Amino acid sequence: MCGIIGYIGERPACEIIVKGLKRLEYRGYDSVGIVTMDEDGLHIRKGAGRIDELVERLKFLEMPGKKGIGQTRWATHGVPNDINAHPHTDCTGRIALVHNGIIENYESLREELRKKGHRFKSDTDTEVIAHLIEEELKGTEDFETALRKALLRLKGSFALGVVYTGEPDRLYFVRNESPMVLGIGSGENFAASDVPAFLEYTNRVVFLDDGEYAVITRDSWIVKDLKTGRIVEKSVQTIDWSLEMAEKSGYPHFMLKEIYEQPKAIKDAIHGNAGIITEIAREVAKYEKIYFVAMGTSYHATLVGKYLFQRLVKRVPVVEEASEFRYEFEDLIDENTLIIAITQSGETADTLAAMKLAKKKGAKVLAIVNVVGSMATRIADLTLYTHAGPEIGVAATKTYTTQLVVLTLLAIELARILHSEDEESLNQLEQELMETPEIVSKVLELNEAIEELAKTLKESRDVFYIGRGIGVPTALEGALKLKEISYIHAEGLSAGELKHGPLALLEEGVPVIAVAPPGKTLDKLMGNIEEAKARGARIIAVSSSEELKRVADTVIAIPPVHELLSPIPYVVPLQLMAYHLAVLRGNDPDKPRNLAKSVTVE
Ligand code: F6R
Repeated sequence: MCGIIGYIGERPACEIIVKGLKRLEYRGYDSVGIVTMDEDGLHIRKGAGRIDELVERLKFLEMPGKKGIGQTRWATHGVPNDINAHPHTDCTGRIALVHNGIIENYESLREELRKKGHRFKSDTDTEVIAHLIEEELKGTEDFETALRKALLRLKGSFALGVVYTGEPDRLYFVRNESPMVLGIGSGENFAASDVPAFLEYTNRVVFLDDGEYAVITRDSWIVKDLKTGRIVEKSVQTIDWSLEMAEKSGYPHFMLKEIYEQPKAIKDAIHGNAGIITEIAREVAKYEKIYFVAMGTSYHATLVGKYLFQRLVKRVPVVEEASEFRYEFEDLIDENTLIIAITQSGETADTLAAMKLAKKKGAKVLAIVNVVGSMATRIADLTLYTHAGPEIGVAATKTYTTQLVVLTLLAIELARILHSEDEESLNQLEQELMETPEIVSKVLELNEAIEELAKTLKESRDVFYIGRGIGVPTALEGALKLKEISYIHAEGLSAGELKHGPLALLEEGVPVIAVAPPGKTLDKLMGNIEEAKARGARIIAVSSSEELKRVADTVIAIPPVHELLSPIPYVVPLQLMAYHLAVLRGNDPDKPRNLAKSVTVE
C-alpha cells in the first residue's frame, strides 16, 4: 500500500521517480505526487489519478532537479484528491514529505499544532508530520534532531521520505512498520518501498528495520536509530532478481506472466530449499504445538499445510488468520509453541503483528517468505524462502504454488525425521513433487480452452467452487482469485457444506466448479456434484479422473498427480480462468480496484 521512491544523483530525478512509481503501481494507489529539489528550492506536483494520466496533466517529466521523492498514495485519511495527495509541506514550505502508513494520534497532534498557529491544507494524517518537524525546528538549525524528535511523538506505522531546503544535498528516509529499502549506486543512491522500483539501476540494497532512518547523499548513505540517533551498522545485500523478472517480457499483464512462470518458480522453490529443509525440519520436529498464521492467499496455503501435516506428520496444527490470531491467541502460546507464518511480501501488517506477539510470548517463529530481507524474515527465528522471484500482479499466483512446494518439502522432511510415514512412500511423494513443474506446464497448455470457457462465464453473477479434503483450499483460492480481479461474486466451500445452506442459492445454469482430484473423498464429492446438478447447476470439474465426464458439463483435464500434490497444478486453471474473466470484463487484472499488493496497515 502506497509506494515511495527517492533518488539523489546526477540524472534528472523526475525520470527515475516516474519509472520507479510505475514499478510500484502494483502496490495499489489512487493519487501520485513528486517533489524535486534544486537551487530554486522545492518543486511539488501532485494529484489524484493514474500515473500515466498525471504525467500528461501535471507534466511530471518536466520537473527540474537531480534529487527528489515520489509517492503513490492509497488513501486512508482524507479522500483521494489533489490536495490530499502527497507530498505534504509545513507552513514555511521548506519541508516536504511523503508517507506510507497511518498516524494514529494525528488528531491530537493537529489540535496542538493548530493552537500554536499552524495552518493545515489537507485532511490527511500525514500533514501533521511536516508541521511537527517545523515546530521542533524552531530555534535550531539541526534538522536531523528536529526530525527525530518529531517522529518520536508519532504513534502508528510510517515509512517516510523527507526533503528540507536547508539541507539541499540530503534526503531522509524512515521506516517504522512500513517497508523501506535503500538502493546503493555509484555516484547516486535510491530509497524505495520495494526493490523493483530501482532495480534497473542497482541490485545492491540495505533493508531498514523498524525504528531506523537513513540519510542519503549522492555519494554516501548512513543508517541511524530513531530513538538514540546512533549509527546502526548495516550490511549491503545483493539481490539476485533481474530487471527482466520485474518486467512483463511480452505478456499483456504481469499476472499472466507470473502464472506462466510457475514451472520455473516451482523448480527454484524445490532446489532453493534442498540444502536447508532438513535443518529447519529438525527444529520444527521439536514442537507438538504448531500454529499456522497468514492472510488471504497465503492463508489458503496454510490450509493446505494443515492437510499435509495431518496426513504425513500426524500432527494437527491450528490454522488461523493472522488478524484473528493476534487478538485471540495470546494466552495460548508459550515457549513450547511453534508459529509458522506464511507471507509472500513479508510485510503484511497482521501477519507481522501475529509473529511479534508469538515472539513476545517466547514461541519459536518460522517464516515462509518470498521477499528476501523483508520484515518477516527479520522477526522470524527461522526462514524458508519460496524463491518465486518478484510478483508484481496484485493477485498472488506463483508465490502461492511455491508456498505449497515449501510446505510439501517441510512435511516430507518432518515425516522422515519423526518416522510418521514409511520411507518408501515419502521418497515416492518427493519424486512426484520433482515432476510437478512438468505437470503444471501441461496444465498451462489448456490456456486457450480455458479462455473459451471463460467467455461462457462472463455474465455470471455468482460462481461456486467446491472441493473436499485437500481440494477445499483450492476451491477457496479459486473463488478468491475470481472475486478479486473479475469482481464476480464467488464462494469457495467444502462440498459437504452444500446441503447445510448454500444449496438454496443454486438455480438453473449457476456455475459450480468442482475441484476433484482422485483420492480419499472423490466418491463423496461426486455425490455433492450430483446434488448440485439436480438443482440445475452447470458443473465444471477440474480433475484427472474419467469419472467426472459422467456428471460434469465440462471437464478441465489435469494430468494424474498424487492427491497431496494436487493443490499445485489444480489451482492453475482457476488462476487462468480468473485472469481471462477479468480481461473479458474490461478489468486490469494486475491492479484490481480497492486492493493493494502488500497490506501494510491493519
Ligand atoms: C490475493 C492476495 C492476498 C495476499 C494477502 C497476504 O491474491 O494476494 O490475499 O495473499 O494479502 O499477503 P502476503 O502473502 O504478502 O502476506
